[in-house]
Amino acid sequence: MRAEDMRRDGGAVANIVPAGEASIARAAETLRAGGLVAFPTETVYGLGADATDDRAVAAIFEAKGRPRFNPLIVHLPNFQQAADCVEIDELARTAAERFWPGPLTLVLPRRAETGISYLCSAGLDSLAVRVPGHPVAQALLAATGRPLAAPSANASGSVSPTTAAHVADSLDGRVDLILDGGPCTVGVESSVLDLTGDRPVLLRPGGIPKEALEAALGTIEEDSSEDHAPRSPGRLANHYAPGRPLRLAARDANPDEALLAFGPSPPTGARTTLNLSERGDLVEAAANLFAMLHALDDPHHAAIAVMPIPRRGLGAAINDRLRRAAAPHE
Ligand code: TXA
Ligand code: MG
Repeated sequence: MRAEDMRRDGGAVANIVPAGEASIARAAETLRAGGLVAFPTETVYGLGADATDDRAVAAIFEAKGRPRFNPLIVHLPNFQQAADCVEIDELARTAAERFWPGPLTLVLPRRAETGISYLCSAGLDSLAVRVPGHPVAQALLAATGRPLAAPSANASGSVSPTTAAHVADSLDGRVDLILDGGPCTVGVESSVLDLTGDRPVLLRPGGIPKEALEAALGTIEEDSSEDHAPRSPGRLANHYAPGRPLRLAARDANPDEALLAFGPSPPTGARTTLNLSERGDLVEAAANLFAMLHALDDPHHAAIAVMPIPRRGLGAAINDRLRRAAAPHE
């Protein structure tokens, strides 16, 4: 059965299963098929998907109803596998040795060839990684054999869930399976520490007190901005915007342009065309968005023309991201 069909089938309550060997094996199979599984971590329940599957990661945003593509935390079974996805410097190694597995998320430069969906980075060139300590999360990572992208398993705008019942309340019918591992012990989200700049910055206070982080890592700045907007030039570089100008709502294409198309009958004439979704599917379009923008961002193109994208469903987040990518560079 396809993951989508499974999602349509089940009522949320029927989808709660106690975490055990058989249910974890079933959850792993669901994840490998591109489905969504809510699972306990020591902090809060996560809404997990295979982080290497663009479409599955896009389905997370759809299920949460997020109006924007926030970057997602990628969960890994151990330090070694995290080091395959991001660049580890001295400070990152110290942090990982001291606090993993546990409620600490590290934002680090992403490696080039990781297989991790660009959607997890939401267009940034960093990636947030975490090794969770919860035995069910660990068992699920081992059984799945894939890195798992997982935001908190709640609909956008509601509080993070610390029981399986909270997940069911918030994501009614929008998740294939909810693994019940009892209440989360930490109960607040992980601390998010950005190590991409000159100095460590705490983007989100969480399960590990700042004092404990500073005792291990030295002075840590706090992020005062609402949306973690970059403040210093060093961090500005992390925010991906295509080097080519973007021409939005394009209904035709010039011969010196690349075309980012949507739907079954794109205009002809562009030098290169990539189609976000020929069948006009917004989940597929979201899954392709960042990888295709990267691919078309080539100095041979005078501009990237982008066809109009409907605003329903994930279209809102796609349009939000395109609008910001099209804004003049500062
Ligand atoms: O405890 C937790 O962290 C839970 C469990 C499931 O692991 N997850 C969680 O994920 O709280 P989420 O998506 O609700 O929050 C992730 C936070 C957001 O504030 C996001 O902006 C930040 O981490 N984040 C993720 N990737 C980032 C990146 N590359 N750069 C900056 N911030 C990032
Ligand atoms: Mg959250």
